[in-house]
Amino acid sequence: MKKTIQFSSATVHFYFDTAFAELEKLVPKEQTIILTDENVHGKHKKKFAQWKVIILPAGEAHKNQSTVDNVIEQMIALGADRKTTLVGVGGGVITDITGYVAGIFMRGISFGFVPTSILAMVDAAIGGKNGVDVGMYKNMVGLIRQPSFLLYDYSLLATLPTEEWINGFAEIIKHSCIKDRKMFVELQQQKIRTFQKDPAALAKLIRHNADIKIKVVQQDEFEQGERKLLNFGHTIGHAIENLYQIPHGHAISIGMGVACKVSSAVNGFKETAEVLQLLKQYGLPPQFDFDKEATYKILQADKKKQGQQVNYILLQKIGKAIVHPIGFDELAAIIDR
Ligand code: GLY
Repeated sequence: MKKTIQFSSATVHFYFDTAFAELEKLVPKEQTIILTDENVHGKHKKKFAQWKVIILPAGEAHKNQSTVDNVIEQMIALGADRKTTLVGVGGGVITDITGYVAGIFMRGISFGFVPTSILAMVDAAIGGKNGVDVGMYKNMVGLIRQPSFLLYDYSLLATLPTEEWINGFAEIIKHSCIKDRKMFVELQQQKIRTFQKDPAALAKLIRHNADIKIKVVQQDEFEQGERKLLNFGHTIGHAIENLYQIPHGHAISIGMGVACKVSSAVNGFKETAEVLQLLKQYGLPPQFDFDKEATYKILQADKKKQGQQVNYILLQKIGKAIVHPIGFDELAAIIDR
């Protein structure tokens, strides 16, 4: 089902519930290069036959400038030019690298995504922020530039490891915390297994979460206000993700736990226990004894920093978040308590 979304900078076509095979109707094979990783390629080899494909090693550790150079060299070897479309088929690492490379190759070529993980379907593939890490610093270079299309083939999730399902639910729980109390309550009554066994319920949940993200980005594509709310759990989350090389979902789960503590101290938020319980219910770690000094050092270089403050996302109640500038010293004092 096609849904055309107008963002402030571009029009994006979302093909929900659409078979991967339809890709050849969206882009001409001879002018397209697919970027994927070895996990996705290994599980879906037949789907890639007859396409030009660049296969990367999997994982966040490869989301860096040296991979970008490597991809660009392979694109040149495959004859890429300004008319080439780059299609990222994979999770958030692949969609990030794809969008970034497409944004800078020959000063910009068109690109599309086929997200293959829940996390990418509900979050990473939507919104146009694409970039790579620089050492410990997550997404330190990048751009905001929209893909031409996204194709959602839910059957690709059949081969997704449970660990990746858990990661994806971190972003779904995040959406419920900041925007949708009703979904929070529904999630409390379910577990991952329910969605693994019920493709219709899963498709509905993914679509609902994609719609939440789309709506926020439509309102504020360049993150001047509303879009900042999507960073709930991501300030501490991003700082510890590369420091400890933990999965993104785990990192932001821990970040959401911390953000609840800060919300309670600053804002009188009273529902921390419910949030922590829901994270646990979906296999996510709500707490972690991280090295405060090392984490605060990374925070000092966070993109959300303004002088000696960081724009922290707090909950007023489940379903309602706010942006709250907070000094690093105050933040550290609350977290250390
Ligand atoms: N690529 C994720 C976002 O734009 O938020």
